[in-house]
Amino acid sequence: MNITKNIQYIGVDDTTLDLFESQYIIPDGISYNSYLIKDEKNTIMDCVDKRMQDEWLENLTEALADRTPYYLVVQHMEPDHAGCIALLAEKYPNMQIVTSARAVQMLAQFFPEHDFTHRTLVIKEGDTLCLGQHTLQFMMAPMVHWPEVFTTYEQSEKIFFSADAFGKFGALMHDDEWDCEARRYYFNICGKYGAQVQALLKKVANLDIKTICPLHGPVLEDILGHCLSLYNTWSSYQAECKGVFIAYASIHGNTAQVAHILADKLREKGVRVSLSDLSRDDMAEAIEDAFKYDRMVVAASSYDADVFPPMHDFLHHLQLKSYQNRKVGIIENGSWAPSAGRIMKGMLEQMKEIEIVEPLVTIRSTYKQTDAEALDALVTALL
Ligand code: FEO
Repeated sequence: MNITKNIQYIGVDDTTLDLFESQYIIPDGISYNSYLIKDEKNTIMDCVDKRMQDEWLENLTEALADRTPYYLVVQHMEPDHAGCIALLAEKYPNMQIVTSARAVQMLAQFFPEHDFTHRTLVIKEGDTLCLGQHTLQFMMAPMVHWPEVFTTYEQSEKIFFSADAFGKFGALMHDDEWDCEARRYYFNICGKYGAQVQALLKKVANLDIKTICPLHGPVLEDILGHCLSLYNTWSSYQAECKGVFIAYASIHGNTAQVAHILADKLREKGVRVSLSDLSRDDMAEAIEDAFKYDRMVVAASSYDADVFPPMHDFLHHLQLKSYQNRKVGIIENGSWAPSAGRIMKGMLEQMKEIEIVEPLVTIRSTYKQTDAEALDALVTALL
């Protein structure tokens, strides 16, 4: 696939991986993106996961035709992109590796059998590298999503190679809408690092960008403004939508029933509602929805004088991803000594700018008409 006459996509789709990073379901697979810039100094922008090395090498060899790569630019050392560095370095012994100082340390860690130091060009913020007609301009992007990451602007064709930023779950063969799987990818992969993403957005704000080439998902051209705007919303921890996300963890279905009654009551008031069964639904999607909406309700059973573990797991994920700046209601269920509310409140209070909405609703085993008043008060407080 040609991005421009001299810049070619040489990445691969992976539709056989069970879990990305051994935790995220990817029903439509994932793409590991890699690009070739054809010029006096032919340059490869990142490799792919070694799972797909054969297909990638075929793409590269075909795109190179009779050319030889002069540079390999390594923007990110995570194995889903850096997995083929040693293989490529052996195949092309004169090829230089262009990367950041932090990545040099990681090269030695990931490839202890190889010494790349004599063939490594270390770049830093603002450096440029002339390939002939093309000039690469480097911008550091630490913690988007690892500390060694940098991004690259190709000045002549106005192409922004954005590393993991603007990436998306889903193989390229599935040409679906960008937002949903880009959002699930963003909050679960980069969610913790909103400040660092904001810093990167500020760096690129004054660049004239025609195309974004991320390391996962489609090359972006037509919806650039839309994607940049969503990235600004997401990374500043603003809600994308008005609405209430209800996350519930229910042992025998009684807490689930309360969650659904609450959803109905909110909908009657015209509120947009989304629900997730934390025991069964995709945890990554629940994380995504928690960030997407401006309000959340957590409803859980008590368990071992604590909270039912799927809820603990969910709130722990939210803590890791720097969930903040939201209004949150709490519903607990307990048959003898309700404890879930106290635990959930404690975990939420450790997060930044979380407004806990009163009342904390306590259900005893099952929802009863006598619980309606407290639930209605929670609905009112959430409006
Ligand atoms: Fe796609 Fe952080 O690796």
